[in-house]
Amino acid sequence: MTNGAVPLTQSIAWKALLEHYEAVKGLHMRDLFAKDPGRGARLVCEAQGIYLDYSKNRLTDDTMRLLLDLADAAGLRVAIDAMFRGEKLNVTEHRAVLHVALRAPAGAAIRVDGENVVPKVQAVIEKMAGFANLVRSGQWKGHTGKRIRTVVNIGIGGSDLGPVMAYEALRAYSDRALTVRFVSNVDATDIAESTRDLDPAETLFLICSKTFTTQETLTNAQTARAWCLQALKNDAAVARHFVAVSTNAGEVEKFGIDPANMFEFWDWVGGRYSLPSAIGLSLMVAIGPERFREMLAGYHAMDEHFRTAPFDKNLPVLLGLIGLWYGNFFGAESHAILPYDHYLGRLSAYLQQLDMESNGKRVDRGGSVVNYQTGPVIWGQPGTNGQHAFYQLIHQGTKLIPCDFIGFCRSLNPMGQHHDLLASNLFAQTEALAFGKTAAEVEAEGVTPALVSHRTFPGNHPTNTILVEELTPEMLGKLIALYEHKVFVQGTVWRINSFDQWGVELGKVLAKRITPELTSGTDPDLRHDSSTNELIRRYRRFRRMG
Ligand code: F6P
Repeated sequence: MTNGAVPLTQSIAWKALLEHYEAVKGLHMRDLFAKDPGRGARLVCEAQGIYLDYSKNRLTDDTMRLLLDLADAAGLRVAIDAMFRGEKLNVTEHRAVLHVALRAPAGAAIRVDGENVVPKVQAVIEKMAGFANLVRSGQWKGHTGKRIRTVVNIGIGGSDLGPVMAYEALRAYSDRALTVRFVSNVDATDIAESTRDLDPAETLFLICSKTFTTQETLTNAQTARAWCLQALKNDAAVARHFVAVSTNAGEVEKFGIDPANMFEFWDWVGGRYSLPSAIGLSLMVAIGPERFREMLAGYHAMDEHFRTAPFDKNLPVLLGLIGLWYGNFFGAESHAILPYDHYLGRLSAYLQQLDMESNGKRVDRGGSVVNYQTGPVIWGQPGTNGQHAFYQLIHQGTKLIPCDFIGFCRSLNPMGQHHDLLASNLFAQTEALAFGKTAAEVEAEGVTPALVSHRTFPGNHPTNTILVEELTPEMLGKLIALYEHKVFVQGTVWRINSFDQWGVELGKVLAKRITPELTSGTDPDLRHDSSTNELIRRYRRFRRMG
């Protein structure tokens, strides 16, 4: 799939980009736009209702050609086909990578080890729909016969970030008679604050965990169980107030949840790719099965676009290659995601896990340490709030931070001038970042000489603008799939496995060793480093007992 014989940085395509970088690194977007009036209309890609303007980047047509050559040389086409065919691309866990099967239409055939998985995916969606309708209609009663008013999703990482992000994003489409809350942190404050005003008789817990062994989730689930049973005083209440979403039926049963109340998914779905699986159950309860299916259709439309569009008109490919241009050649270390829509307040956090857990890798698929940058730090906040917090550093700091601006032409809450003000801020920011303000322009405004350098904006800060008509469930599915596949593009070029996450293991193992050292009645024989030993001793001195 990749030309493993030649190190990536020695490949013809990489070296050509390096040489090209030396030639274009000094170009300023001011000049690129001035010399080429058609640039803003040409360096765009429109597909699936998404308009991507990538003209405000430090690149030329030649850059794009060379980046596309790199994608070809990386075997991207072969890799895409292999993923959609169900090949075991997750080589360290020997698993297929088939989140695309979760949104394939009924009737499609996608095979894992010879089995067409689409019928079982569809069966789970049907089961979810039946359950969601019962809860939404009030037919699903709690133990005392009351209807459910609040659904609490307990999960962490991929079993939390996707559902909470999408629930917030699609708030406008949700049933306001029901509230969904999300508990993830093992810090008791999370569950305590999330349940303190709730009536257990009207509360339903969805325990979401791919493995059903995650310490945080199981601890929160036990606490929720105790909270519920303390009020309802009957173990039989668990069946009406607890539902599980997992790949691990055995552990679900051990916890005491009836397997009939379990919604299944499979090991070929990565946690951070699991929102369109049963992990999205809380979202389906909130927005209803029909809207959830619209979201799946959006995902699928983007999957098909990614699978079939030529690379120079392929949204995930373009976003992936442009990101790589800055990370590998300009040395950019982070990438900001800036949605201009309040409903997308959790999008950056969601994409943070998607991207950083996938491409935060230091060895290639064969296990050799790489000598080039892989995944960037992903971060961001919705506009316009971010403008009054961290944009200063992007405009005038010393770091190069490529940004994705995501905006909508219509608001779901059209009120007065709000939306036009929001949109004008988005456009103004990308304009200011690209073109800045020269010292001459500042001087011409009559600014005192001592302040000229302070008030000069260098510009040449790269941005992509993703402009869409309106935020709908379908569009949300498209946007998420766009970023999923962008991550795939980059991981493929970097020759890494984007689908494992061994890096989170060591901390988990060490925490398990430390817990008894914090709680034991007698002084433990501490054998950590001197810093960790001292911290543990101090904690033991001041911790509250019991
Ligand atoms: O943080 C590691 C991780 O394994 C993530 O990849 C995953 O999304 C999260 O933990 C939760 O795992 P689970 O769904 O198995 O509880």
